[in-house]
Amino acid sequence: MLLLVALCLVCTYKTTSAADSGQDSSRTPQLDYSSLVLPQQHIPFFLHNNKRLAKLCKEDPLCPFKDALLLKKACWGYEKSCSPEHRFSYPVCTSFDSGWANSIQAAQELFWKQADFGYVRERLSEMKTLCKPMSPGDSSLKCTSHMRFCRAVNLFLDLRSPRRGHERYKEDFLEQGEIGGHCSLDSKALATEGMHKSPLQSWFAELQMYSELDFHPLDDGHCDVIIDRPTIFMKLDAGVNMYHHFCDFVNLYISQHLNNSFSRDINIVMWDTSLYGYGDLFSETWRAFTDDDIIHLKNFDSKRVCFRDAFFSLLPRMRYGLFYNTPLVRIPHASVALKCFLFPHLAFVHLIMFICCHLSMLMRLCMTSLINALKTVLLFEVKLVDYKYKEMPFLEQIRVTHNSDIFIGMHGAGLTHLLFLPDWAVIFELYNCQDESCYRDLARLRGVHYMTWQKRDKVFPQDKGHHPTLGEHPKFTNYTFDVEEFMRLVLLAAEYVTRHPAWRAKQARDEL
Ligand SMILES: *[C@@H]1O[C@H](CO)[C@@H](O)[C@H](O)[C@H]1NC(C)=O
Ligand SMILES: *[C@@H]1O[C@H](CO)[C@@H](O)[C@H](O)[C@H]1NC(C)=O
Repeated sequence: MLLLVALCLVCTYKTTSAADSGQDSSRTPQLDYSSLVLPQQHIPFFLHNNKRLAKLCKEDPLCPFKDALLLKKACWGYEKSCSPEHRFSYPVCTSFDSGWANSIQAAQELFWKQADFGYVRERLSEMKTLCKPMSPGDSSLKCTSHMRFCRAVNLFLDLRSPRRGHERYKEDFLEQGEIGGHCSLDSKALATEGMHKSPLQSWFAELQMYSELDFHPLDDGHCDVIIDRPTIFMKLDAGVNMYHHFCDFVNLYISQHLNNSFSRDINIVMWDTSLYGYGDLFSETWRAFTDDDIIHLKNFDSKRVCFRDAFFSLLPRMRYGLFYNTPLVRIPHASVALKCFLFPHLAFVHLIMFICCHLSMLMRLCMTSLINALKTVLLFEVKLVDYKYKEMPFLEQIRVTHNSDIFIGMHGAGLTHLLFLPDWAVIFELYNCQDESCYRDLARLRGVHYMTWQKRDKVFPQDKGHHPTLGEHPKFTNYTFDVEEFMRLVLLAAEYVTRHPAWRAKQARDEL
């Protein structure tokens, strides 16, 4: 498992390793470029926003990003110096819902703010200093509205007598003086930030006790431990559910943008006020963010611990947050095709850098009659996969997904795999008895084509379903599908894929 990650990272950092083994082995690069976690094609955007690094790179003959320096104007889109024509991505809308916007342009702009780097720009514009440093070496605390993201310098945290209990996110875990810094605190401003107080929506509960201290935590011998390494605090959603856990990762990624830093040489501390461990089926994904394992807050218990540089990450269930609860410009009726989608290279999906790719066709399916029908079509190479983490390591699952053109599955968190499909792929949610918007929206964010079952009279539940406690429930039964209708839809999906320019380009390359 770990070997595969390493391999894929080598893929991403081809130029780095080339430079490392360069002719002049007596010299070492001025910076550890390999800790910068961005796919190579994102480096110009990063350097645009990191002028100091760009300068170092220019002067350093061993800098592997020389090519990136040539694309000086490329920018993510949220930087003050970014002109619209040079930004990383922008949504395309082909029609719009008058309830949301009154022109195509307005719909695009709205979508950009809701689900793309416009979201970062909005958060950056909210940043406010709540505790102001008065002299060099002081602490500071800056947050966006409702404390959804905060940055702290020289932070003091007193965990000598932690009030741990069964709750993961106890709201009265800290008392006055147990968290704070040496800076001038605007307590009135701080007190007004509590409107989103809720474990996975804001950091208000944790930071409401932030206190103005009369000592310099790091200099005056008040810390039992000093953490010099930059640290990210996170409160995590369910690690056993791919959809929810990826809300953590996506928001962590966007937080890296807010902080304008992508180094893996950092700590991730999991804020948790219980003593429980964390069940995580997708833990390999952390390798995109840190070189080390994540640290449970309880590891610091019984100590006064000080952090030189830390940020509190955006949270997975924020109101109007990203990925979860994103208020995407709506499709009013299924027949009126309102189309807004992001270009497939939407940056958060760069988590895909884990994967090295080849083309094959995959179908995920549990029903033999459907599989047999598919197999009659020569164009298809059909693979039935069972993504049980015990049987198939997570990175292997992602590799299989990334090599699929049509991905078929029943409604469920496993469909989050659509993030890792190639740009031309179709995600086919075979059946969803309740609400189709969840994975349809996610597919739009990712920029892959979404399809679902269209005719309710062509699907046959075995019975009314039995939920363990809620009684009758359509989610909890087996279904059979009309095979002919199924094939009609899959062929539509195949038509979409084979017409996609990126798929065609790939075929052409493969034939050479
Ligand atoms: C956040 O940004 C600061 C300032 O650039 C940087 O020094 C720090 O390492 C970053 N923090 C993390 C956790 O990456
Ligand atoms: C669905 O079918 C499988 C295999 O026949 C069976 O094991 C399972 O209990 C069924 N599930 C429900 C909810 O009826």
